[in-house]
Amino acid sequence: MASELKLLFSREEIAETVARMAREISVDYADKKLVLVGVLKGAFVFLADLARELTIPAAIEFVRIASYGAKKESCGKITVTKDVEISLEGKDVLVVEDIVDTGLSLTFLMDHLRQHHPASLRLCALVDKKARREVEIKVDYTGFAMADGFIVGYGIDFNEHYRALPEIFVVD
Ligand code: IMP
Ligand code: MG
Repeated sequence: MASELKLLFSREEIAETVARMAREISVDYADKKLVLVGVLKGAFVFLADLARELTIPAAIEFVRIASYGAKKESCGKITVTKDVEISLEGKDVLVVEDIVDTGLSLTFLMDHLRQHHPASLRLCALVDKKARREVEIKVDYTGFAMADGFIVGYGIDFNEHYRALPEIFVVD
């Protein structure tokens, strides 16, 4: 892999942003039955840091979704390959995702989770690529907004490489 990586968000910027998001969530979900639902694999580092910054109790679940068909095509079929393992009925579910790009996979996932009858369902994303959106989706908590470019690190991969990097880089 001869890709060049350019630093985009430092450890300090990420830590500050995650702490800010955790403060907002801790206020909004005080006295609620918060369940964080992390989207594998990309959100695992973000979720781990976010959860440890919360000042309120939270259950932690994971889901995994896969899209088949032509990559980057909106016609790709999306399926849940790993579902939550507890009942979400009456719970306050907050989906924790690494990146919202076209919005297609998250729209599918939110529709799927709604069928579990949560009391509330919201979305938290570390990175929002708003300009690339193909379907409208509300991101309730956003870490960073970015225009375009492919990023890696802090759980986010390029063909399974770079997930363990502590900072976020743009791949050139
Ligand atoms: P979408 O919103 O349905 O297009 O899918 C977003 C998902 O695509 C994210 O959760 C990532 O898994 C992946 N993705 C989008 N942009 C990037 C990127 O810049 N780097 C790595 N993965 C990305
Ligand atoms: Mg993802």
